[in-house]
Amino acid sequence: MVGLPARGKTHMARRVARYLRWLGVRTQVFNVGNYRRQVLGPRQPARFFDPDNADGRAARRRMALQALDDMLGWFASGGEVGIYDATNTTAARREMLAKRMRAHGLDVVFVESVCEDESVIESNIRQTKLHMPDYAGVDPDAAVRDFRARIAHYESAYEPVEESEGSYVRVIDVGRKVVAHRIQGYLPSRLVYFLMNLHVVPRSIWLTRHGQSTFNRENRVGGDPPLSEAGLGFAHSLAEHVRESGVRPRVWVSTLRRTQMTAEPLGLPFEEWRSLDEIDAGDCDAMTYGEIREQMPVDFEARRKDKLAYRYPRGESYLDVVRRLEPVIFELERERRPVLVIAHQAVLRALYAYLMDRPPSEVPYLPVPLHTLMKLTPITYACEEVRVELEPRLA
Ligand code: F6P
Repeated sequence: MVGLPARGKTHMARRVARYLRWLGVRTQVFNVGNYRRQVLGPRQPARFFDPDNADGRAARRRMALQALDDMLGWFASGGEVGIYDATNTTAARREMLAKRMRAHGLDVVFVESVCEDESVIESNIRQTKLHMPDYAGVDPDAAVRDFRARIAHYESAYEPVEESEGSYVRVIDVGRKVVAHRIQGYLPSRLVYFLMNLHVVPRSIWLTRHGQSTFNRENRVGGDPPLSEAGLGFAHSLAEHVRESGVRPRVWVSTLRRTQMTAEPLGLPFEEWRSLDEIDAGDCDAMTYGEIREQMPVDFEARRKDKLAYRYPRGESYLDVVRRLEPVIFELERERRPVLVIAHQAVLRALYAYLMDRPPSEVPYLPVPLHTLMKLTPITYACEEVRVELEPRLA
């Protein structure tokens, strides 16, 4: 990462890490500020960051090298993407880091965050920096003054990334403008595309399974069954709850009847996504779990042993579901209005894992009960969650 303090670098770093981890890429963020806070203590006055302060400069360099060593060690033990989160605002610092990284066989991409919009910087300072241990118990106005003095020190030595330094992405005003230079390969391209879609506008993302279906009642998987009586009752409760909340969300459903029947009483237009269809149970479609155990014991056992990677014969695995949900994730990131997703158990487990930053290994077991609305609100790095159980009510 490259950029002055309060340019949202840590936010971007963590969001990118969450996305890549969800895709199954071993990713870790190394935040140099955390090393400074841990080793030198959280309370360093602005003058510590003055480029003319030799002691401060040496201490900051030591922290930077320590984080770099840890990151290189982590790569040696199988890490795939390391995000080195620091200001890295001078060309000399970047050259020193990139040289060592390249010597270890790593490809380096600089992600530079530039903010020309003063209001974004002000809100970043007030919303995140003042809550850091650096300013615990300090008067907010004094803290803002100190932080601005810290920024000014960095500004005096700041050199934006140049083309001669190699691959970079420059993100200006949280995605208003994105410049990509010498971006090659799959992951760097995904990175640029992801950064183009990020925004920091607060809005809610609501997730729910469809109302109970006739198959749910019989413990049958897959198929395209209609809602049961209770399921229809849930659809009405959901509609009432959404109306009372005053929120008018975009509504996304799958191509399957049970999600569309759940959406109908809302009286809102809904968008159909094939990617939101339930995990394809292939040859097991429409069977009960009991029938699968009796008729296909080898498959039943294989799924029990590795539910994440197990692929139904002529169907899908959870890993397949995660991959096909990537466009949904991008659209969720891009969207600024509230969204209500009405989908299915396996699909919602995968979406929930992304939003709540849960590891892939947990995906197949995350609890996503019927008739429960999960209201997620993205905060800085993950989401706040409220679950509302809705009793089925007949119209
Ligand atoms: O049982 C309802 C259902 O949506 C099925 O259609 C689907 O196969 C299943 O849940 C997914 O859950 P699990 O992976 O735990 O079997």
